[in-house]
Amino acid sequence: MNNNLQPFPWPSLPDAVKCKAIRFNIQDLLAQSPGVALPAALTKAVPKRRAEFLAGRLCAKEALRNLLDEEFDIPIATDRSPVWPAGTIGSISHTSDIAVAMVASDREYWGLGVDCEAVLDRKEASELAHMILAPEEPAAAPARLSLAQFITLAFSAKEALYKAVYKVFGPTIGFHDATISAIGQNQLTLCLTALSPTGNASTYPIDVKYKFEENHVLTWLTIDHGHPVAAPL
Ligand SMILES: CC(C)(COP(=O)(O)OP(=O)(O)OC[C@H]1O[C@@H](n2cnc3c(N)ncnc32)[C@H](O)[C@@H]1OP(=O)(O)O)[C@@H](O)C(=O)NCCC(=O)NCCS
Repeated sequence: MNNNLQPFPWPSLPDAVKCKAIRFNIQDLLAQSPGVALPAALTKAVPKRRAEFLAGRLCAKEALRNLLDEEFDIPIATDRSPVWPAGTIGSISHTSDIAVAMVASDREYWGLGVDCEAVLDRKEASELAHMILAPEEPAAAPARLSLAQFITLAFSAKEALYKAVYKVFGPTIGFHDATISAIGQNQLTLCLTALSPTGNASTYPIDVKYKFEENHVLTWLTIDHGHPVAAPL
């Protein structure tokens, strides 16, 4: 791991989940050639995209090293999702200056999802509210959060969920298919209504942990093998 990359504080996780989070600067990261190969498809991408990709992969490599004590590259699938080594699951997120990856053995968990977002400003939040929130969701907003914080949190939690369940539902689920049904100090519940691969509509409650840190919202979730979403009928 490149020692010039500052760790970013991530809240504690179960022992079986290995997490790496860093703070990075786009120019510094690109200048350092940090030991992760840039795929051909990204060599002409703008610096921000190249740096975010590299930062996410650096975190993923480090998290995998902590899990398996081995070096792995994480290719990109044609649908853009990361391809994790056999026997592992994981998730990646990045903003323009923070990247995070979480990995675990697929014997321990069925799914993992992580997301990190800079808190939207008030104007952006109110412009995006109708896309992110289903009509009933604003009523769930706790008084201690600003509307912008709540909308950013809902967005982030839904993105983390999307990543965690993508392998069964693919791109079919949209923002209004997952709604906040409960929210506490550091955990919320999303109710996901989705069609199973056999065409049955079901609703799955899924807990998402969250934390506000340095004007960012961090969200993450683990899904056990026994959870109904892991075997949709
Ligand atoms: C793919 C998507 C989830 C990425 O989230 P984002 O907040 O835009 O970006 P993040 O930085 O948090 O995550 C990006 C990483 O997600 C991972 N990712 C991309 N597609 C993925 C997928 N289908 N499944 C799991 N992970 C995926 C990649 O590792 C990507 O980083 P990389 O391109 O550098 O490898 C998002 O762009 C998207 O398409 N969302 C679907 C819209 C939606 O309806 N969401 C809510 C439904 S409840």
